[in-house]
Amino acid sequence: MSNIVVIGTQWGDEGKGKIVDLLSEKSEIIVRFQGGHNAGHTLVIGSNEYKLSLLPSGIIRKKKISIIGNGVVVDLLHLCKEINELIARDISITSKNLKLSENCFLILPIHKYIDELREGIKNSAEKIGTTGRGIGPAYEDKVGRRGLRIADLKNKVFFEKKMRALYQFYNIWIAGSGFKKRNYKKDLQLIFESYQKVQPYVCNTWLELNKYIKAEKKILFEGAQGTFLDVDHGTYPYVTSSNTISGNATIGSGVGPNLISYVLGITKAYTTRVGNGPFPTEEKGNLGKKLAKVGKEIGTVTGRKRRCGWFDAVLIKKAVIISGVSGLALTKLDVLDGFDEIKICYAYKLNGKQIDFLPLNEDEQKILIPVYKSLPGWQSNTFGIKKFEDLPDKAVAFVKEIEKLVMCSIDIISTGPDRLHTIVLNKFLS
Ligand code: IMP
Repeated sequence: MSNIVVIGTQWGDEGKGKIVDLLSEKSEIIVRFQGGHNAGHTLVIGSNEYKLSLLPSGIIRKKKISIIGNGVVVDLLHLCKEINELIARDISITSKNLKLSENCFLILPIHKYIDELREGIKNSAEKIGTTGRGIGPAYEDKVGRRGLRIADLKNKVFFEKKMRALYQFYNIWIAGSGFKKRNYKKDLQLIFESYQKVQPYVCNTWLELNKYIKAEKKILFEGAQGTFLDVDHGTYPYVTSSNTISGNATIGSGVGPNLISYVLGITKAYTTRVGNGPFPTEEKGNLGKKLAKVGKEIGTVTGRKRRCGWFDAVLIKKAVIISGVSGLALTKLDVLDGFDEIKICYAYKLNGKQIDFLPLNEDEQKILIPVYKSLPGWQSNTFGIKKFEDLPDKAVAFVKEIEKLVMCSIDIISTGPDRLHTIVLNKFLS
């Protein structure tokens, strides 16, 4: 048994796509279990770059089965677009290699509209900085027990009734806030047209997964976003609306926790965040700009510039504990090549007192002052290095320091965007 869960340990954009792609070589099945098309994965394969947001990374590879599990919220219009774009690039997508859970909740056009309206009326301090794709409202409807699922599309009359009721529910707020109400009829048509296109992929994915498990196929669970965007454990309310930590791999797919053998936490050698919210090690000046420029820190989905700062070991220590991380993949090490000093945050000062954990209160999170350990930069080229022995001593010291502070081994080091630019240190993963 070697089923692996891959999660982000920061605020997303840690480089999960590349690592999932690398590990998918040894796995037959790749499963998305939460989030929606707010996720952004960039895969570089040879000279081709693929940007995915809803489809599992395995879709690019031949002979892999990609599953969109029940925990994912699905915008059918977007899904059709993403599938068509890949087909146009000669990627084969059939009912054999793509399976879409019929109990996925739908993101409807009204969810996107509500997401944008709500963000639009907030003042700049209140804005979450969502991706504007309707993720939050769709998950709200799920737990509010008024959501619509793919399975509901089997009965058009029933679906229309539920959709009309949902639009009425939102239109009360929309009209009351002075905005233009949304009529469900055109949207209904669009949803049904998209449904016809994706219908071949729709199935009962937990049953399918169970069959694969019995046949001893290897499964890779691909998390989206990151630990500190988790709705329970993140920097609430500046979070996404799903659980992004490893535990959700089982809920969002219908696979029991006893079947997970390894949890890989992906962590960048520095920290980035898109959207608003606390970010203790953020560097707002030239240093942050340099990290952003060298690391090409632009959001895959929204094209927004990412906020950048130093590595925060306090956060990663928590991520390791709450996800039961077996090992870490340290990505973008090469981005730090040109820095003469490299800092790692190992504690915070809160109102003059030193603490080594992230407080849960929003106001306290905003006023944390990072306490740093300073390390000398290696100032040499690590881009594309494939062997640990070839890393400069100072880079090795940086890796070792992180392992000590976060109390977890670094099992993979990524030194560039291509899957070949990787050092795999744990035999289990190679
Ligand atoms: P939402 O998921 O669109 O509701 O956005 C909520 C927060 O999560 C915002 O700060 C987004 O920028 C952030 N977010 C959502 N998806 C991603 C992602 O894939 N990478 C990084 N940040 C994300």
